[in-house]
Amino acid sequence: MATPLWKNATIYQIYPRSFCDSNGDGIGDIPGIISKLDYVASLGVKIIWLSPVYQSPLDDLGYDISDYYKIHPDYGTMEDFDRLVKEADKRGLKIVMDLVVNHTSDEHHWFKESKKIDSPFRDYYYWRKGKEPNGKRPPNNWTSMFTGPAWEYDKETDEWYLHLYSKKQPDLNFHNPKVIEEVENILRFYLDKGVYGFRCDVINQIFKESLEDGKGKSQQARGIEHYLMKEGNHRILRKLYDDIFSKQECVVIGETYNVDIENGYRFLTNHEMDMFFQFEAMAVDQSPSRVFARRFHPEEMKDILYKWQQSVPWNANYLENHDQRRSITRFGDEKTYWKESGKALALFNLTLSGTPFVYQGEEIGMIDKPIGEPEDSLDVAARMVNKIMKKFHLPHFMRKKVCNRLDRDHARTPMQWNGGPNAGFSNGKDTWIKVNPRFLERTNVEKEEADETSILSFYRRLIKERENRGAIHDGKFIPIRTKGPIIAFIRENENEKYLTLINLSKKKAKIPESACMGASDLVLSTYEEKELKGLAYLRPYEGLLLKIG
Ligand code: NOJ
Repeated sequence: MATPLWKNATIYQIYPRSFCDSNGDGIGDIPGIISKLDYVASLGVKIIWLSPVYQSPLDDLGYDISDYYKIHPDYGTMEDFDRLVKEADKRGLKIVMDLVVNHTSDEHHWFKESKKIDSPFRDYYYWRKGKEPNGKRPPNNWTSMFTGPAWEYDKETDEWYLHLYSKKQPDLNFHNPKVIEEVENILRFYLDKGVYGFRCDVINQIFKESLEDGKGKSQQARGIEHYLMKEGNHRILRKLYDDIFSKQECVVIGETYNVDIENGYRFLTNHEMDMFFQFEAMAVDQSPSRVFARRFHPEEMKDILYKWQQSVPWNANYLENHDQRRSITRFGDEKTYWKESGKALALFNLTLSGTPFVYQGEEIGMIDKPIGEPEDSLDVAARMVNKIMKKFHLPHFMRKKVCNRLDRDHARTPMQWNGGPNAGFSNGKDTWIKVNPRFLERTNVEKEEADETSILSFYRRLIKERENRGAIHDGKFIPIRTKGPIIAFIRENENEKYLTLINLSKKKAKIPESACMGASDLVLSTYEEKELKGLAYLRPYEGLLLKIG
């Protein structure tokens, strides 16, 4: 069988609200995306993952869907969507949709119907009586992934419903076969339209094995041991594969919060999905509670990624997405070595084994936005964290610090097309979220397209090299154990062998002897060197892709 496209391709994630606004209302839309397809294709990527464009009250900016079969008017119409699939196809690009089915919006008609106690939709969700003696306490002690209680009381029927995210995101009940049937209908509907697959939102939480109390006192995700990667979860995913995905070439990408190696391995080898996002590497600069910051050590990132590279058959590699802060701010250097660190991170992400994901703006080196007041965040999760911190009377400076670190607005500021008004994202008066003013003049597509040495130019070369050199997209991954900030690994197939060498720090670092073996040709250099001048040291954020032998 021919290698499926998703194994060779780089995937580009578009967050539609912030990508390109075609009608001046300050909100990105589908015609805007269509107008930028030539740009996307010019990157060399082959697949677009589109964050949700469905009908939604936008409490969680589209991850709360009120109609799976409609496009939100902010983004356009179903005709626009069909046109997007066609226009993308003309340019050799496939579209992967976001499948958000752990929950719907509370404004979905299923949920509205389910509010009547005898409705056939009641059992689409988790409706339960409150705890005895008077039912005025939630059915269990679970807390939401966004903090705060995971149950909301409904006066009309004197029962509570479960929501692992905001209270406007009630959880679907996957014990009900009807729910699974509905999900399959949605999948078929979009596959029939020509989409290439799905990125499945929090897909390892969909099956609640029991509703018993959770352990511990955490204000976030208490109870998770009852719904993370349970047998029923594996069973349902396998059913979707048998019923739907096995019938055609498509890709299934799991967003799998806190996945472990054992379950990850099982997801892949049992055909439950093609790849998944692990979260471990994203926690390297966070305290164990994930609330506070921790210093980033490249060694730790290296250890985690090497472990995943060697433990599961295929990886989904990423350093950014719409939920994460910008990677240069976290793992690189925004100021002195902005360009070098942007390229070094790219080289790391794109030469690992697996499918690389690039998030809009990452390819031009976008960084975090300025620090703001927690109340001003447009991110429901950051606002909920602020609310709970207020409830516990935590001081303003602390709330501000924590919320800024968690704030997903950092990744959602408009794509920077040029250095002009609204960064070229919109010609309207205002944008739904402010443009990031920090270093806009250096960080935009127009400026970087004119510069051979820009981060953008480097991404274009790197994506091409990755595609053209077999060992880099399908070779074995062989780590070279090094101490300190130097990252070194080999990618090898029967025909060729490549070495990635990266110094992920601000200080010059000595290359250990074990990592220099037989490198002859220089393929890419983050310092834009044209030939290899010895291998003794790497300068700050210097990265090299070398051919061996
Ligand atoms: C993960 C999505 O990426 C995130 O944006 C969303 O808030 C949650 N799932 C809930 O759908």
